[in-house]
Amino acid sequence: MAVSTVPVRMVQRRLGETARRDVWWLQPLLVFLGLSTFIVYATWAAFQGDHYSYGPYLSPFYSPEIVGPSPHSWFGPRPASWPGWLPFSPALLILPIPGLFRVTCYYYRGAYYKAFWADPPSCTVGEPRSSYWGENSFPLVLQNVHRYMLFISVFILLILAFDAWKALWFTDPANGTVSFGIGVGTLVLAANVVLLSGYLFGCHSMRHVIGGCVDQLSRAPFGVRAYDCVSCLNRQHMLWAWSSLFSVGFADLYVRLCSMGVWSDVRIW
Ligand code: FES
Repeated sequence: MAVSTVPVRMVQRRLGETARRDVWWLQPLLVFLGLSTFIVYATWAAFQGDHYSYGPYLSPFYSPEIVGPSPHSWFGPRPASWPGWLPFSPALLILPIPGLFRVTCYYYRGAYYKAFWADPPSCTVGEPRSSYWGENSFPLVLQNVHRYMLFISVFILLILAFDAWKALWFTDPANGTVSFGIGVGTLVLAANVVLLSGYLFGCHSMRHVIGGCVDQLSRAPFGVRAYDCVSCLNRQHMLWAWSSLFSVGFADLYVRLCSMGVWSDVRIW
């Protein structure tokens, strides 16, 4: 039987041109507004270098405080040799790690490629250029550092969990005695650790680590159940990404406003 062929001419769409009838632009717009708000706030907070601790609470933007003026500092105050012209804030020493981890996250990449430089604006919507380079060339090839940032971020997460533990121990300023307690700040820091764990353990690279990079799941070094657990978190990765972004920003804001005397921390127990 003869097969007839019909030639189809592919027409390059102009930027933003689409046959879609839904509000496809809404999601990139919300991503743009959400990420911009967080970036502006986090940058401002990181450069403050002040009001980042309150009693046993330490802002996650400043943890671990390697050097700095607060009692949470690991190695005491800023070294005297620090150049006077170089801005100093304990957050600037640590924030690039979680920052890079998020910037190179597979979910965020897909989201901010659309929201910040419209490449592509959305699925089946005209792009700004006709060629496709993928992430094989500079600078986007650097996104591959994500798997390494994962390992460092696990270490940071453990420190934040320890911070939440320390937020259970309150010192009486009158006599210096330390007692167990739970304040609203304790819950804020603990919730942040839970949400960050959901985000981090649902990471695509974490699936490879837990799966052991083998092509037979029964041989996965951490077991099939652990792989299923990580996969379950991974299915909701976008939700964990946004909820943990909000919680880490809110935890800094909470500690900051308590330290400034704008909010009062309530002791629940
Ligand atoms: Fe999102 Fe790794 S893919 S944190």
